[in-house]
Parts: sequence; structure tokens; C-alpha cells
Amino acid sequence: SRTPVTVTLTGAGGQIGYALLFRIASGQMLGADVPVRLRLLEIPQGLRAAEGAALELQDGAFPLLAGVDVTDDRAAAFDGVNVALLVGARPRGPGMERADLLAANGGIFGPQGAAINAGAADDVRIVVVGNPANTNALIASAHAPDVPSERFTALTRLDHNRALGQLAAALDAPVGGIRNVSIWGNHSASQYPDVSHATLDGAPALPLLAARLGGAEPAERWLADEFIPRVAKRGAEIIEVRGSSSVASAASATIDHMRDWVGGSPAGAGWTSAALPSDGSYGVPEGLISSFPVESVGGQLRIVQGLEISAFSRARIDASVAELIAERDAVRALGLI
Ligand code: NAI
Repeated sequence: SRTPVTVTLTGAGGQIGYALLFRIASGQMLGADVPVRLRLLEIPQGLRAAEGAALELQDGAFPLLAGVDVTDDRAAAFDGVNVALLVGARPRGPGMERADLLAANGGIFGPQGAAINAGAADDVRIVVVGNPANTNALIASAHAPDVPSERFTALTRLDHNRALGQLAAALDAPVGGIRNVSIWGNHSASQYPDVSHATLDGAPALPLLAARLGGAEPAERWLADEFIPRVAKRGAEIIEVRGSSSVASAASATIDHMRDWVGGSPAGAGWTSAALPSDGSYGVPEGLISSFPVESVGGQLRIVQGLEISAFSRARIDASVAELIAERDAVRALGLI
């Protein structure tokens, strides 16, 4: 039998953690033949909730589940970790300024990065879900000098999946026929969901959209005024309608992100989106953790190269990247990186 993969989940007593754990234990993230050992990291206030989830994992009788440890000790949680899902973060409290938020999260992601640096397995892969996700990933990476920076990613797969869902609805087509939507920039309201290279059943989506909406101009207006803001602000819409934040969809996207990264992009599936350190592609400053169209090949995420970027896209990518630069400069000024 195979050696279990060690998966560390932070914020395991929270909502997304609860939605993630059972899917990981059932093999939906790493495969139906891969045993997993779960390490649940919480802060002291969250330990009981995580312990309760661990009891329910036992009650799930998952054949792939090789063990569950619950701890508030970072070093123990990240010792030997292969896959790290960094979900726990400090939410913005009432009256909290951006600098306070970044500093509070720096106090979480800096030490977690250091613990990963000290204890992780050589093949460690990290995805940051806790917000501000891109900048939290940057902070963690800065504290893990021995871990290749490209192992630190942030989740924009939820934004990607939201864009797929909205485009499918607009085209009145099944979501499975759509390929090559992209999310660029920050996981925030400034993100740029880009359908300019999207296809439906292999045909360019934009002409199809124009045909449905009465021309190229109405299609462009729909993109600028409805599609882009709706995807970018979908989190707020979910809170408004559901009375609670996106949880199951966020967990599902986290599974998608790590499944594709570890297992490779499925053949013919086109690209997806993830935030990872820029290599300077598409004019995004090197080192910034920005969302790009990506493919997973040989266990590595690669930025899709050579896409034509229209003026419409350029302005929106630049605006979101400017926000990432401002966040990076702010955490630099605070001494967090
Ligand atoms: P939640 O509040 O239900 O759970 C967060 C958990 O993290 C709590 O149990 C808390 O005790 C724990 N925690 C806090 N600091 C910790 C630390 N230093 N170490 C370990 N655990 C810690 O929140 P929920 O709904 O699970 O969301 C988690 C995060 O995910 C939030 O930051 C949220 O903004 C973010 N999010 C990101 C999305 C994305 O697409 N990137 C989508 C949806 C949510």
C-alpha cells in the first residue's frame, strides 16, 4: 500500500475547513487510491470545532484516511507536509484599516511560512485561501527561503469557476463545453475575469455572445457592466442571498486547484486560473503573486504563454496588478516581507 500523503489544513475548525475535510478524506483531491494523513491546525479558540470535525471524519469511515491530528502547534502541523491548505486567516473587523488587516495576517502567514520552511517535505505544495490570499501567500513565501517560491500559490479558482458559470448561463450552454476563461490579478474586486480567449465546444465564445446579445457592442457592454463586476463581486452576492459567505464553492474550488496541480490538467480541458509568483509574463512584475491562466504539467503549474492581450484587457490587468503592488509595498513597509 502507498505511503500516505500528509495534508495540513489551517482553519480546520472553520466553515471552509468543514466543507473541505470530507472531500479530501474521500479521495476527491488526491485520487481514489491515495491514502491521506490529515493535520488540522487551529488557534486555541478553534480547537474544539476542529476536534469535532475529526470525530466526524472517524464516523465517515473513509478507507483512505490514514490518520487525523488536531493541533495548535504550527511546527507539529507542518512537519513533513506535502500539501498545505492555508485557509485560516484574520477577517477584517469593524473599523479595521488595511494596514491593520495586513499586519494581523502577517502575524499568521509569516510564522506559518517559517514552519513550512522548517518542516515541509521536499515536494510541498501550498495554496492560500485565507484573505487577502495573494498577499498572504507572498508573506508566507518570504518566510520560507528554502522552499521554491513557485510552490506558494493563492486560490483564484473560485473566481475562475464563477466566470465559467456566468458565461455558461449567458450562452445558455452547459458549463462543461466552455474552455479557456482566465482570471488575472488579485483575488479581490479588482480582479479581471477575461473571456476573450474563451471557447464553447471549440468555437470562440465572443461571437456567440454577440449573436445572443444583439451585436459586438452590446456584448462588450455586457462584459464591462455585468459579467466582470458580477464575477468580481460574487462573494458579496452570495452573502446577500445566502445570509452567509461562500463556503461549499470555495472548498470545491480549493479541491479543483490542488487536484489539477498534483494530478495534472485533464487532457483537453484547456487552462484554468491560479495565483502564483509572476516570472514577468504579461508585464506583471516578477515575484508578485498574481492570478494567471495556468496549466498543470508534470506536477508544475505553468503560466499559459503567448495570449494576445487587447487594450480592454490590458487596462484591467494593470489595474488589478497595481492593487497587488500596493499591497506588496504595504507589507514591505510594515516589515512583513
Ligand atoms: P471561518 O471564520 O469560518 O474559519 C476560519 C478559521 O480559521 C477559524 O476556525 C479560525 O479559528 C481559524 N484560524 C484563524 N487564525 C488561524 C491561525 N493562525 N491558524 C490556524 N487557524 C486559524 O472562515 P471561512 O469561511 O472558513 O473562511 C476562511 C478564509 O477563506 C477567510 O479569510 C475568507 O475570506 C477566505 N475565503 C477565500 C476565498 C478565495 O476564493 N480565495 C473564498 C472564500 C473565502
